[in-house]
Amino acid sequence: MKVILGPASRELGKRIAEDLNAEIIPVFFKTFPDGESYLRFDVESLQNEDVVIVQTTSPPQDQRLIQLLLMADNAMDMKARNMIAVVPYFAYSRQDKRFLSGEVFSIKTIVKLLEYCGINRIITVNAHNPKVLKAFKIPIEDLSAIPLLAEYFKVKSLVENPVSLSLGKKALSVVKEADSILKGGFDYICTKRDVITGSVRLEDKELPVKNRDVIIFDDIISSGGTMAKAVKYVKEQSARKVYAACVHPLLIGDAKKRILKNGAEEIIGTDSIPSSISKVSIAPLLSEALTK
Ligand code: R5P
Repeated sequence: MKVILGPASRELGKRIAEDLNAEIIPVFFKTFPDGESYLRFDVESLQNEDVVIVQTTSPPQDQRLIQLLLMADNAMDMKARNMIAVVPYFAYSRQDKRFLSGEVFSIKTIVKLLEYCGINRIITVNAHNPKVLKAFKIPIEDLSAIPLLAEYFKVKSLVENPVSLSLGKKALSVVKEADSILKGGFDYICTKRDVITGSVRLEDKELPVKNRDVIIFDDIISSGGTMAKAVKYVKEQSARKVYAACVHPLLIGDAKKRILKNGAEEIIGTDSIPSSISKVSIAPLLSEALTK
């Protein structure tokens, strides 16, 4: 197995290759003055090789998706036998259906393109709607980094007997996973999303957080608006220490500041997207899946 280090996930790719004891295919990368990407694999041929391309597709997602497609097609031209795309943050996966008539079905289009460029299998992490991913022709595996995040809180002793909270009832399974490690109990914060504006409001719900340490888990922190509201809401219900945890720290604009200003002790994320809060590496999770 050879690991191609996509420009968006060089560090993570290196860690995975180390774990697998696999050869790294370095990728020379530059951006042309007009913004187009140029990539070159430092290898003559990939004939009969099983190849893993590691590339997260966080912003600038269109550019990173194009880079991923270019790398896949290039590996196919170089006669790779089997190609797995490791895409920890899967751009466009939130548009997982037509919410309104006439809308694009983004994730379907992206998967089609990856398949067309020779990808046989996709591995992603905490996809927004794993059920949708099952509907495609090529296998898409969705791994969960929640146990790794929960383990981090446990090992670092950041919290005492914490309550794990999800954002929305649908995400309860996420905090059940966390609670199997943290064991302080779990619940959900009631959220309602406006399908037109996309904004989220919190609905009243009494939470078991009084004088308790709390960790709020979410798959993504993007603008930070949802998490900031949630932290404030939990603080108003007299929680003691409140931590924000996410798998994919997109952290657009002043997301981090907004959450901390509303009372979070710290925000912990993974290296699915490299960031200042990426304290937990998902490399072991991905390596394990790749060995299967
Ligand atoms: C939504 O369904 C996700 O789970 C996140 O809650 C959402 O993407 C967070 O977005 P933002 O940080 O912009 O509020």
